[in-house]
Order: sequence, then C-alpha cells, then structure tokens
Amino acid sequence: MRPTEIEAIRQQLPGWLEASLPCVSRGKVAAYIPELSKAPHAALGITLLNTMGESATAGDCGLRFTMQSISKVFTLILALMDNGEDAVFSKVGMEPTGDNFNSMLKLELVRPGIPFNPMINAGAITVSSLIHGDSPSEKSDRILQFLQELSGNAGLEYDLGVYRSESETGNLNRSIAFFLKENGVLSGNVEEVLEVYFRHCSIAVNCADLARMALVLACSGTDPLTGNTLIPRRYVQIARTFMTTCGMYNASGEFAIQVGLPAKSGVSGGILTFVPGRYGIGVLGPALNDKGNSYAGVHLLQTISREMNWSIF
Ligand code: DON
Repeated sequence: MRPTEIEAIRQQLPGWLEASLPCVSRGKVAAYIPELSKAPHAALGITLLNTMGESATAGDCGLRFTMQSISKVFTLILALMDNGEDAVFSKVGMEPTGDNFNSMLKLELVRPGIPFNPMINAGAITVSSLIHGDSPSEKSDRILQFLQELSGNAGLEYDLGVYRSESETGNLNRSIAFFLKENGVLSGNVEEVLEVYFRHCSIAVNCADLARMALVLACSGTDPLTGNTLIPRRYVQIARTFMTTCGMYNASGEFAIQVGLPAKSGVSGGILTFVPGRYGIGVLGPALNDKGNSYAGVHLLQTISREMNWSIF
C-alpha cells in the first residue's frame, strides 16, 4: 500500500532537516535582547500538522522559544476583531516599504506619517495600542488567551526573563513609540503600550504550538480539529496577505519565490507558515541570517516546498 502524504513526509523529514543543519553555522543568534543570546545556536526543529490532527516532526521541535515578531500576526487579527478594518488602517498602512515606485528615499527620510505596515515594529507597536482592555495587563492577558485558544494549549505563558530583558534594553522600540506618540499615531501612555508589545513578543511556544496556530490560518479561521471558528475569514485573509508581502521582512520577496507560502518569522528563530487548507507548520532555528530570519529554518522550508511542490504561486 502507498504511504499517505503525512507518512511520506515523516519518512523524508529527518533527511531534509539533516541537509539544512550545515546552515546553522552560517547564522548568528540574536543578542540585542540579552536573554535571547542564551538560545542553542545549533538547534533546528519542525512540526507539520494536518487537518486530521496528524503530525510529522523532526529535530528540536520540543524546545521552547519566544514568539517575538510572530505574535504580530495575531495582535493584528485581535486588533481587527476589536476595532474593525477602517479604524486599524487609519493608524497603520498596508505597504511593504511605503516608497513610491521610483523613490530613492530611505524610510527614515520620508515625511513622518503612519507606520508602513503592521509587521514592522512601528506598526506592531501601534497595533498593540489598539487592543481593547482597561489596563496593560488586561490587554496582554487577552492576547495570551487568544493564543492559548488558537494553539489549543491552555498552558502557554510569558517567558518573563525575555520580557524583562527586552523591557530593560528596548531603547530603539521606545524611541519609535515616542516618535509615534509625538505624531499623534499612538494614543495613551507610551510605557503601557510598550508593556503590551514586549509581553506578546515574550510568549513562549514550541513548534507544535506554532503549527496548530498556523493550521487555523490555513483553514481560514476555523480550527479543523475542533470545528470552532476562532477568527473571521476576512481577517485571516488580511493576515495571510501581510505574511506574504511583509512577513519575512526584507527577504519576503525571496521567500515568496523560493518557498511560496505565507510566513512570519521572529528574532528568536521561529517561523510560522502554512499550506492553505492542508498544513500548519512551526519551525525553530535560532541562528539567523542577515535579514533576521532563521538561516536553517528558511533552507529547510525551501527544501520541503520544492519536494512537495507546495508553492501557492
Ligand atoms: O521588537 C523587537 O525587536 C522584538 N521583540 C521582535 C523583533 C522580531 O522578532 C523581528 N523578527 N525577526
């Protein structure tokens, strides 16, 4: 009898991961948040989860790491659920760079306005300010509960060591936030907005948690394992589009060509991606390339997408 697709993936996955391992030596673990520099440099892990709840795993998929920028996808969705599209996109734009097609200007020289998109820090800090709640802790806990629901893991928690480390050293994000406040983009207390932002970046997950969250995005907002609709379809469509155009920062175009799946990376080395309607995928590889994406993680996804012919383009 021919193996099912998930059985075939389970057979091949260790070999594909092995082939990506040499990439870890070319990458660097992020150190600008001091606590992140403790991550295991040579780690690489992956979990794929299909709509039947069957998974394929390899490598260090059980290691815990913080979501960092991956959380931006879900704070955007929660802000849309709280405020609607018009309110959110009056405060943050939709474009990868904001430059005109023939512009020679760098982002810093453009006349101050709203952040270009919700995946860059300025945009994500603005989105954090739009989450409903009476206090920073209530807002943060609503984000955490949303991610617990999406991951099917009620045990998800903040990594307080990473939270404190970023809160104590995050002067660049503080500058961005005060700049946004000065321009009337951020309302409310800047330190409180930053607390919400730093907290959601510090939520700790493993590859299986990411794969389950990604599966909900793959299935247009409905968790196929419970049948519960957790996100309106329209907001998943918006999130998927940002993941495709801006999710891998200045390597989003190359990732679209080489892998061809919507994805979001984080500076801790995580990547959340999915095959629409079929698989949620979580990857960890803390050694990063010069664009801030997991070196070996991107290589591994390139291999899998090519072998399985999964590009959506
Ligand atoms: O704001 C920061 O710098 C981090 N908390 C998140 C950055 C991040 O994950 C960028 N991703 N590659």
